[in-house]
Amino acid sequence: MKIIVTGGAGFIGSNFVHYVYRERPDWQITVLDALTYAGNRANLDGLDPSRVTLVEGNITDAELVDKLVSEHDAVVHYAAESHNDNSLQNPRPFLDTNIIGTYTILEAVRKHGKRLHHISTDEVYGDLELDDPNRFTENTPYNPSSPYSSTKAGSDLLVRAWGRSFGVEATISNCSNNYGPFQHVEKFIPRQITEVLEGRRPKLYGTGENVRDWIHTEDHSSAVLTILEKGKIGETYLIGADGEKDNKSVVELILTEMGKAADEYDHVNDRPGHDMRYAIDSTKLRNELGWMPKFTDFEAGLKSTIDWYTQNESWWKPQKAETEAKYAK
Ligand code: NAD
Ligand code: TYD
Repeated sequence: MKIIVTGGAGFIGSNFVHYVYRERPDWQITVLDALTYAGNRANLDGLDPSRVTLVEGNITDAELVDKLVSEHDAVVHYAAESHNDNSLQNPRPFLDTNIIGTYTILEAVRKHGKRLHHISTDEVYGDLELDDPNRFTENTPYNPSSPYSSTKAGSDLLVRAWGRSFGVEATISNCSNNYGPFQHVEKFIPRQITEVLEGRRPKLYGTGENVRDWIHTEDHSSAVLTILEKGKIGETYLIGADGEKDNKSVVELILTEMGKAADEYDHVNDRPGHDMRYAIDSTKLRNELGWMPKFTDFEAGLKSTIDWYTQNESWWKPQKAETEAKYAK
């Protein structure tokens, strides 16, 4: 099997590349990544270059995408502009990469008759009230809130349309918030861990009662490989590990795990349009494809993530000052 992993030098894509490298030793992996501020060659360190090739290029480059797709069996499409806060400052790159980039990949897999798995987010469904007894399912109507989530929603709809109208063999997965190693320090958990490591206080948006449904990135990877191999063409699968936690509790856990008092954080201005709660019902994936998450102890997963950032300062330090300068602005 020869696969292309778009965005494979980013957080979740690189974790997937490492996972497939270990789990499928006879597969060849080509990473197509533009190495934007969020991509990092070092995320692929230690992988045998005879099995994993990094092609530095843009998913909107139709000629390049067409050539690569013609030479592979399947595309696992992670590449995206992925951060809500950035999308509120400057939406344009989100349209280019998430919409036009996905369109470009769809046209190539359509022309060459190749399999596509499209990676998406639960944020396409909008948000839930804190006391809503329901969680998101594959049948929840789309209702995205931000330029990020609306462009991801648009990309999902393109994939569905290319499946129905052109017979493209595609599956889609919508996953909840990931955590683990190699996540950019702009995101919530690594931002707070590295703030503490640099001697500053974590920053909680608004009241901190917003809930995210955390899943370890390794469980996301095992779910995607399961769908790629066993998923039914044309279907969407929600990926989640029953990990709902409010932001305030997560910050308090980080602080106490790092030897600080639980209240040593600051409330800062809320994010405009801030989604209140995400929650995934992954029954379909579990029942139909037999997938189960393994990293369900959030405190243990958070502790190992804190250890990873503590031990890998040289990985995150170069991103940190620039990220905080952006936030300060
Ligand atoms: P990330 O920002 O860490 O990585 C994105 C990668 O895509 C980077 O390596 C970047 O260089 C690359 N990229 C960006 N634009 C590109 C372009 N035009 N051409 C080629 N490469 C490009 O993102 P992430 O958090 O790893 O998210 C990966 C995917 O998973 C995204 O599709 C995202 O919507 C989805 N997702 C993320 C989460 C989460 O919690 N982070 C949850 C569910 C789904
Ligand atoms: P984030 O990691 O940006 O993911 P998403 O917006 O996709 O859920 O944020 C996770 C949650 O943490 C979200 O409710 C916003 C909040 N947050 C903070 O409270 N402080 C921060 O510094 C950041 C970056 C996020």
